[in-house]
Amino acid sequence: MTETRTPNLGGFVPRDRSWHPDALTPPYKTSVKRSPQAALLSFPTTLSEETSPMFGHGMIGALDNDLIHNYAQSGQSAIGPRIIVHGRVLDEMGRPVPGALLEFWQANAGGRYRHKKEKYQAALDPNFGGCGRTITGNDGAYEFRTVMPGPYPWPNGMNDWRPAHIHFSVFGHGFAQRLITQMYFEGDPLIPLCPIVGVLKSQEAIDQLTALLDMHRTVPMDARAYKFDIVLRGRRQTYFENRAEGL
Ligand SMILES: [Fe+2]
Repeated sequence: MTETRTPNLGGFVPRDRSWHPDALTPPYKTSVKRSPQAALLSFPTTLSEETSPMFGHGMIGALDNDLIHNYAQSGQSAIGPRIIVHGRVLDEMGRPVPGALLEFWQANAGGRYRHKKEKYQAALDPNFGGCGRTITGNDGAYEFRTVMPGPYPWPNGMNDWRPAHIHFSVFGHGFAQRLITQMYFEGDPLIPLCPIVGVLKSQEAIDQLTALLDMHRTVPMDARAYKFDIVLRGRRQTYFENRAEGL
Protein backbone atom coordinates (compact mmCIF):
# COMPACT_ATOMS: atom_id res chain seq x y z
CA MET A 1 0.00 0.00 0.00
CA THR A 2 1.14 3.55 -0.54
CA GLU A 3 1.32 6.41 1.91
CA THR A 4 -2.18 7.86 2.30
CA ARG A 5 -1.84 11.09 4.18
CA THR A 6 -0.92 14.63 3.25
CA PRO A 7 1.06 16.35 6.01
CA ASN A 8 -0.48 19.41 7.60
CA LEU A 9 1.92 22.31 7.56
CA GLY A 10 2.08 24.86 10.34
CA GLY A 11 2.38 24.82 14.09
CA PHE A 12 0.28 22.99 16.58
CA VAL A 13 -2.05 24.33 19.22
CA PRO A 14 -0.24 24.49 22.57
CA ARG A 15 -1.14 21.84 25.09
CA ASP A 16 -3.86 22.89 27.49
CA ARG A 17 -2.11 22.46 30.83
CA SER A 18 -5.30 23.13 32.76
CA TRP A 19 -6.70 19.94 31.22
CA HIS A 20 -3.61 17.78 31.64
CA PRO A 21 -2.49 16.61 35.07
CA ASP A 22 0.25 18.41 36.91
CA ALA A 23 3.71 16.91 36.42
CA LEU A 24 4.22 16.55 40.17
CA THR A 25 1.52 14.36 41.73
CA PRO A 26 3.01 12.68 44.85
CA PRO A 27 0.28 10.00 45.29
CA TYR A 28 1.72 8.64 42.00
CA LYS A 29 5.15 8.14 43.51
CA THR A 30 7.34 8.00 40.40
CA SER A 31 6.08 11.45 39.36
CA VAL A 32 8.24 12.89 42.16
CA LYS A 33 11.47 11.91 40.40
CA ARG A 34 10.16 12.37 36.86
CA SER A 35 8.74 15.87 37.22
CA PRO A 36 10.83 18.93 36.27
CA GLN A 37 12.94 20.58 38.94
CA ALA A 38 13.12 23.92 37.10
CA ALA A 39 10.77 26.14 35.11
CA LEU A 40 10.00 24.90 31.60
CA LEU A 41 11.51 26.63 28.59
CA SER A 42 9.53 27.09 25.38
CA PHE A 43 11.09 26.71 21.95
CA PRO A 44 9.49 27.34 18.54
CA THR A 45 9.00 24.13 16.60
CA THR A 46 11.00 23.49 13.45
CA LEU A 47 9.64 22.42 10.06
CA SER A 48 10.89 18.86 10.53
CA GLU A 49 9.10 18.65 13.88
CA GLU A 50 5.87 19.86 12.27
CA THR A 51 5.93 17.57 9.24
CA SER A 52 7.63 14.37 10.42
CA PRO A 53 7.59 11.48 10.90
CA MET A 54 5.75 9.75 8.03
CA PHE A 55 4.92 6.05 8.03
CA GLY A 56 3.89 3.75 5.24
CA HIS A 57 1.70 0.67 5.43
CA GLY A 58 4.62 -1.31 4.03
CA MET A 59 6.31 -1.29 7.44
CA ILE A 60 3.39 -3.09 9.11
CA GLY A 61 3.36 -6.90 9.23
CA ALA A 62 0.23 -8.95 8.59
CA LEU A 63 -0.19 -9.89 12.27
CA ASP A 64 1.06 -6.67 13.84
CA ASN A 65 -2.49 -5.65 14.77
CA ASP A 66 -3.43 -9.09 16.13
CA LEU A 67 -2.01 -9.68 19.60
CA ILE A 68 -3.97 -12.91 19.85
CA HIS A 69 -1.73 -14.44 17.20
CA ASN A 70 1.35 -12.27 16.61
CA TYR A 71 3.39 -14.09 19.26
CA ALA A 72 1.60 -17.44 19.22
CA GLN A 73 2.88 -20.76 17.95
CA SER A 74 1.35 -21.91 14.70
CA GLY A 75 -2.21 -23.06 15.35
CA GLN A 76 -2.22 -21.59 18.86
CA SER A 77 -3.66 -18.36 20.27
CA ALA A 78 -3.30 -16.22 23.36
CA ILE A 79 -5.35 -17.16 26.43
CA GLY A 80 -8.01 -14.75 27.61
CA PRO A 81 -11.23 -12.97 26.65
CA ARG A 82 -10.92 -12.00 23.00
CA ILE A 83 -11.60 -8.34 22.22
CA ILE A 84 -11.44 -5.88 19.33
CA VAL A 85 -10.23 -2.36 20.15
CA HIS A 86 -11.12 0.25 17.54
CA GLY A 87 -11.67 3.95 17.14
CA ARG A 88 -10.44 7.00 15.30
CA VAL A 89 -7.49 9.32 15.71
CA LEU A 90 -8.66 12.93 15.40
CA ASP A 91 -7.00 16.30 15.73
CA GLU A 92 -8.21 19.06 18.00
CA MET A 93 -10.57 20.31 15.28
CA GLY A 94 -12.23 16.93 14.98
CA ARG A 95 -10.50 16.12 11.69
CA PRO A 96 -9.30 12.55 11.10
CA VAL A 97 -5.55 11.92 11.26
CA PRO A 98 -4.72 9.38 8.54
CA GLY A 99 -1.34 7.66 8.43
CA ALA A 100 -0.81 7.88 12.20
CA LEU A 101 1.30 5.10 13.72
CA LEU A 102 -0.27 3.50 16.79
CA GLU A 103 1.81 1.22 18.97
CA PHE A 104 0.19 -0.56 21.91
CA TRP A 105 1.36 -2.80 24.71
CA GLN A 106 -0.32 -4.51 27.63
CA ALA A 107 -0.20 -7.22 30.28
CA ASN A 108 -1.61 -10.65 29.48
CA ALA A 109 -5.01 -11.85 30.67
CA GLY A 110 -3.52 -12.68 34.08
CA GLY A 111 -2.08 -9.17 34.48
CA ARG A 112 1.54 -10.09 33.79
CA TYR A 113 3.92 -8.37 31.38
CA ARG A 114 6.52 -10.21 29.35
CA HIS A 115 9.37 -8.11 30.75
CA LYS A 116 12.56 -9.03 32.60
CA LYS A 117 11.74 -6.64 35.46
CA GLU A 118 8.19 -7.95 35.91
CA LYS A 119 7.73 -9.13 39.52
CA TYR A 120 4.06 -10.14 39.56
CA GLN A 121 3.68 -13.88 40.14
CA ALA A 122 0.82 -14.36 37.65
CA ALA A 123 1.71 -16.85 34.91
CA LEU A 124 3.18 -15.94 31.55
CA ASP A 125 1.20 -17.02 28.52
CA PRO A 126 3.61 -18.72 26.08
CA ASN A 127 1.43 -17.56 23.18
CA PHE A 128 1.14 -13.90 24.16
CA GLY A 129 3.82 -11.26 23.59
CA GLY A 130 1.83 -8.18 24.55
CA CYS A 131 2.61 -5.57 21.90
CA GLY A 132 1.53 -4.61 18.41
CA ARG A 133 1.07 -1.71 16.03
CA THR A 134 -1.07 -0.39 13.21
CA ILE A 135 -1.54 2.69 11.02
CA THR A 136 -4.75 4.71 10.73
CA GLY A 137 -6.65 4.74 7.43
CA ASN A 138 -7.84 7.74 5.44
CA ASP A 139 -10.69 8.29 7.88
CA GLY A 140 -8.34 8.14 10.88
CA ALA A 141 -9.74 4.75 11.89
CA TYR A 142 -7.75 1.97 13.50
CA GLU A 143 -8.50 -1.50 14.84
CA PHE A 144 -6.65 -4.33 16.51
CA ARG A 145 -7.46 -7.63 18.18
CA THR A 146 -6.13 -8.72 21.52
CA VAL A 147 -7.14 -10.35 24.81
CA MET A 148 -8.53 -8.39 27.73
CA PRO A 149 -5.55 -7.50 29.96
CA GLY A 150 -5.77 -8.37 33.65
CA PRO A 151 -5.34 -5.89 36.53
CA TYR A 152 -2.00 -6.08 38.32
CA PRO A 153 -0.42 -4.91 41.58
CA TRP A 154 2.36 -2.32 41.50
CA PRO A 155 4.78 -0.95 44.07
CA ASN A 156 3.33 2.49 44.77
CA GLY A 157 1.37 2.44 48.02
CA MET A 158 0.85 -0.50 50.36
CA ASN A 159 -1.60 -2.31 48.06
CA ASP A 160 -2.19 -0.50 44.77
CA TRP A 161 -3.61 -2.29 41.73
CA ARG A 162 -3.80 -0.96 38.22
CA PRO A 163 -7.15 -1.24 36.44
CA ALA A 164 -7.08 -3.30 33.26
CA HIS A 165 -5.48 -1.04 30.66
CA ILE A 166 -3.69 -0.86 27.33
CA HIS A 167 -0.80 1.55 26.73
CA PHE A 168 -0.77 3.58 23.51
CA SER A 169 1.94 5.52 21.70
CA VAL A 170 0.69 7.65 18.82
CA PHE A 171 2.72 9.42 16.14
CA GLY A 172 0.51 11.88 14.27
CA HIS A 173 1.58 14.35 11.60
CA GLY A 174 4.46 15.84 13.52
CA PHE A 175 6.72 15.05 16.46
CA ALA A 176 4.83 17.80 18.31
CA GLN A 177 1.74 15.57 18.16
CA ARG A 178 3.41 12.59 19.84
CA LEU A 179 1.08 11.18 22.46
CA ILE A 180 1.58 8.43 25.03
CA THR A 181 -1.51 7.46 26.97
CA GLN A 182 -3.49 4.60 28.49
CA MET A 183 -6.90 3.18 27.76
CA TYR A 184 -9.19 1.79 30.47
CA PHE A 185 -12.31 -0.36 30.16
CA GLU A 186 -15.85 0.73 30.93
CA GLY A 187 -17.16 -0.60 34.23
CA ASP A 188 -13.82 -1.52 35.82
CA PRO A 189 -14.19 -0.94 39.60
CA LEU A 190 -10.42 -0.38 39.96
CA ILE A 191 -10.49 2.82 37.86
CA PRO A 192 -11.51 5.18 40.71
CA LEU A 193 -9.02 3.50 43.09
CA CYS A 194 -5.94 3.94 40.87
CA PRO A 195 -3.38 6.62 41.90
CA ILE A 196 -2.41 7.15 38.25
CA VAL A 197 -6.01 7.71 37.21
CA GLY A 198 -6.26 9.94 40.28
CA VAL A 199 -3.92 12.56 38.80
CA LEU A 200 -6.57 13.42 36.21
CA LYS A 201 -8.39 16.64 37.04
CA SER A 202 -11.93 15.74 36.14
CA GLN A 203 -14.34 12.88 35.56
CA GLU A 204 -14.53 14.08 31.95
CA ALA A 205 -10.80 13.43 31.53
CA ILE A 206 -11.20 9.94 33.04
CA ASP A 207 -14.12 9.24 30.72
CA GLN A 208 -12.01 10.28 27.73
CA LEU A 209 -9.54 7.52 28.61
CA THR A 210 -12.22 4.89 29.15
CA ALA A 211 -13.19 2.70 26.20
CA LEU A 212 -16.87 1.87 25.90
CA LEU A 213 -18.28 -1.55 25.13
CA ASP A 214 -19.39 -1.41 21.49
CA MET A 215 -21.86 -4.18 20.74
CA HIS A 216 -22.13 -3.05 17.11
CA ARG A 217 -18.56 -4.16 16.42
CA THR A 218 -18.76 -7.32 18.51
CA VAL A 219 -18.24 -10.50 16.47
CA PRO A 220 -20.67 -13.22 17.59
CA MET A 221 -18.96 -16.29 19.09
CA ASP A 222 -15.60 -14.57 18.60
CA ALA A 223 -14.83 -11.24 20.26
CA ARG A 224 -16.34 -8.35 22.17
CA ALA A 225 -15.47 -4.83 20.99
CA TYR A 226 -14.41 -1.62 22.72
CA LYS A 227 -14.35 1.83 21.15
CA PHE A 228 -11.60 4.31 21.96
CA ASP A 229 -11.11 7.59 20.07
CA ILE A 230 -7.86 9.50 20.46
CA VAL A 231 -7.50 13.27 20.05
CA LEU A 232 -4.10 14.76 19.28
CA ARG A 233 -3.01 18.17 20.49
CA GLY A 234 -5.16 21.10 21.52
CA ARG A 235 -8.02 21.51 23.97
CA ARG A 236 -9.58 18.15 23.25
CA GLN A 237 -6.37 16.21 23.43
CA THR A 238 -6.23 12.86 25.17
CA TYR A 239 -4.29 13.03 28.42
CA PHE A 240 -0.54 12.76 27.94
CA GLU A 241 1.04 10.50 30.58
CA ASN A 242 2.24 12.24 33.66
CA ARG A 243 5.56 13.53 32.42
CA ALA A 244 6.74 16.70 30.81
CA GLU A 245 6.79 16.73 27.04
CA GLY A 246 9.64 18.34 25.16
CA LEU A 247 7.62 20.41 22.75
FE1 LIG B 1 0.71 -1.05 32.40
